[in-house]
This record gives sequence, structure tokens and C-alpha cells, in this order.
Amino acid sequence: MKFRAPKGTDDILPPASRRWRRLLRVWDGITERYGYELIMTPIFEATEVFERTVGEATEVVQKQMFTWEDKAGRSMTLRPEATASVVRAYLQAGSPGIMKVAYAGPMFRYEQPQAGRRRQFFQVGVEYVGEDAPGADVEVIEIGHRYYREIGITDVEVGINSIGDPESRAAYRRILLEYLEQRRQELCDDCRSRMDLNPLRVLDCKVDAPKLADAPVPVDWLNKASGDHYQAVKQGLDEAGIKYREEPRLVRGLDYYTRTVFEYTSPSYEAAQAELGGGGRYDGLAEALGGVPTPAVGFSLGMDRIVLALEGTEEIPALDVFVVLADPARRGQAEELTARLRSDGLRTDRLAREATVRAQFKAAHRRGAAAVAVVGEEMERGRVTMRSMADGSESEIAIEEVGEWLKSR
Ligand code: HAM
Repeated sequence: MKFRAPKGTDDILPPASRRWRRLLRVWDGITERYGYELIMTPIFEATEVFERTVGEATEVVQKQMFTWEDKAGRSMTLRPEATASVVRAYLQAGSPGIMKVAYAGPMFRYEQPQAGRRRQFFQVGVEYVGEDAPGADVEVIEIGHRYYREIGITDVEVGINSIGDPESRAAYRRILLEYLEQRRQELCDDCRSRMDLNPLRVLDCKVDAPKLADAPVPVDWLNKASGDHYQAVKQGLDEAGIKYREEPRLVRGLDYYTRTVFEYTSPSYEAAQAELGGGGRYDGLAEALGGVPTPAVGFSLGMDRIVLALEGTEEIPALDVFVVLADPARRGQAEELTARLRSDGLRTDRLAREATVRAQFKAAHRRGAAAVAVVGEEMERGRVTMRSMADGSESEIAIEEVGEWLKSR
């Protein structure tokens, strides 16, 4: 075949897409229960939206953006993430007070592709905009935690840290630079350039980690307001029964963060790209876009990685029942039964064309049906034969009972 999907992108077809559908449904359910409404923003923005927020010195902006000039000579970029767009939309809507929103969609980063690191990848996320209280941080962290548990990643771990407000950060930055200056010669090239642009990221460096084990960390330089906020977030997590690990070296890769930052991992998912999701506060982002100061907190979860982490777990049936026509003269009855079950909310399908019973069973299996309803001569007595695809057991039941029979399984 001549054409293939571009490098670092994926087609998601059945049966793999069954899992995606389920994951998105659970996502919708949880965020709705917590009072987060849907937000949809464009998939591309003016490049400056990301430069000013994600940060000119970050890897994302320096190396990973899909940027082009439109026909009018404006620089546009496929969104590498959604938080900047959400805040841009919030400001454009006139800063409507508190806004709690959830999103789901593709993001684009020009990365060196590997498992769990794609050029087009899918994130779900929430943003709690306009709220300064530590309770907002706690709520957001709780939503992610709950989501992982509900989809079956029950051993999710939360790592948290505070990188402080701008005042704390300025104080910390001075101390850190002093420390790094004394070691400049020992550092890797990346860290040396980070020192000048974004010294905090040095804490993240895998190469230099052993040499920097005694580096000062941001939590030790928090001012009172930032320290109190961090204490309150931890207390709130304790009260909500959410276990977390304090990670003083957690700094994250985007520049807009202030105060709370956090990441989700799962010990049973050991991978090169192990971070299943992350987020934090970004109280300065609205101002970076020219808006009024607006505190906010949120996270995004990497769906591609979540799907990898769930690989090998229970298969998801795509259909509750497949209707098999054993007696071609009863097509009308089979159609009626199919229509009734669909109205009942049961995922029901059948073949459109005529085929042998064997071929229909094969189709039922391939389509991932949990059960089959055989419409044959037993219809004479108002009955159908139900067969469980899991264990092959069969029972003949009255046609009115089919819905109940399926739901009770
Ligand atoms: P991020 O850490 O850049 O944060 O991305 C969040 C998650 O998206 C990561 O933890 C990872 O699971 C997934 N992810 C990132 N890049 C890729 C990739 N190339 N391929 C596959 N998965 C990837 C953000 O994007 C922020 N917007 C999070 C946030 C929301 N902070 C506040 N609100």
C-alpha cells in the first residue's frame, strides 16, 4: 500500500477503539459529576499563545511545535497542549468568573516517536479557572486520581511539589544559580544551556542527577503564602484519603506553572514514558496573555499511555447481543427483535445480508458480542435461543425476556 499514517501518528480502529470509547465515556461521567462543563477550542492558535505561556525556553516551544505561516502571513501552531488555549478562550469570553471545564482531544508535538510518545497524541484534562483556594488544587488532583481508579489503574501514585509563587521562585533561582555556577564545568550541555534559560529544569536532568543530589530544592525557599498554600493542599489530600508522595525535585516541562505541581504514575506500568498525566497551578498564565491576573489549576492525562498501561486487561465486548437469523423466513421477526433491544438501550446488531448460521456466529464473535439471540423455529412458540459467547451455554427464553436476560448477566 502506498499511503501510511504520518510518522508518530496512529489509526485507532476496532477492536482497540472499544477501549478508547469506554475511557472517554468514563471521563465524561466523572467530570460531569464534579461539575466540569465541556470546552472545545480550536486545534490551532496564533503561535504566540504558546510562546508566551508554555515558554520560549521550553523543549516544546523550541523543538516540538508544528508551526506554519498562513496565507495572510500569520504564524500559526497546532496546539501542543490545551491549557493555553483554554485561558485564551476564557479571556476572550470576558473572564467569566469561575470556570470549570473539561476537554478531550488530540495535541501535537514534534517528538522522536516511540511507545507512549507520539507526534499526535490524545489528552483529556480539566481546568479550574478563577479560583485561588487550595481546595481547587485538591479537587483537581482527586479527579485524576479517581479517573485512573475507575478505569482500572488502581495503583496510581500521585507525586506533588510546590515550586512557589514568582517571589519564592526569584529567591530560589538565585540560590540555585549560585550552586550551579560552582559546578558549571561538570554539567551536561543541555543543563548548561538550561542554566541560562530555565535553571529549574536542571533538577529534571537524568544525566546529571547523581551530581546534583544535594542541589537546593524549591520547597525550601517558599515564602509564607506559598508555604501555607502547599500545607493546605497536602492537608486537603489527607482529608480526601488520597495518598501522595512529596517530590521536591518535581518541576515539569512547561513554564507557566506556579506553586502546586503534580504527576500521576503507576508502578505496574514501567515504561520509558511512564508519566500518565500531570498538571499544576498556573496563576500567571492569564497575565502572560495580556489578561487580568487569574489564578487557575488543572491537569491533562495522556490517553495513549493510559491505553498502553491497560494493555492485556479484560477485553471489552462491543455488543451486548448479536441477532442470528436461523430461519430466513423470519427476517421480519429478527428485525423487530433487533429494534426492540436497541430501544431498550442494548447494544444490538445483526448482518444486513443473508448468510449461514455459521457465518453469522463468526460475525458475532468477530464483532465482540457478549451473547447471541437465535431467531429460528422456536419463534413459533414466541421464544428465542440465547447463547453466551463467554461460556457457550444456551437457554431458550420467551422473546419478552431477552432484554432482562441480557441485562442480568
Ligand atoms: P504535559 O505534562 O506536557 O502537561 O502533558 C500531560 C500528559 O500528556 C503527560 O503526562 C503524558 O501522559 C501526555 N503526553 C505528553 N506528551 C505526549 C506525547 N508526545 N505522546 C503521548 N503522550 C504525551 C500538559 O500538557 C499540561 N497542559 C497539563 C496541565 C493542564 N497543566 C495544567 N492544566
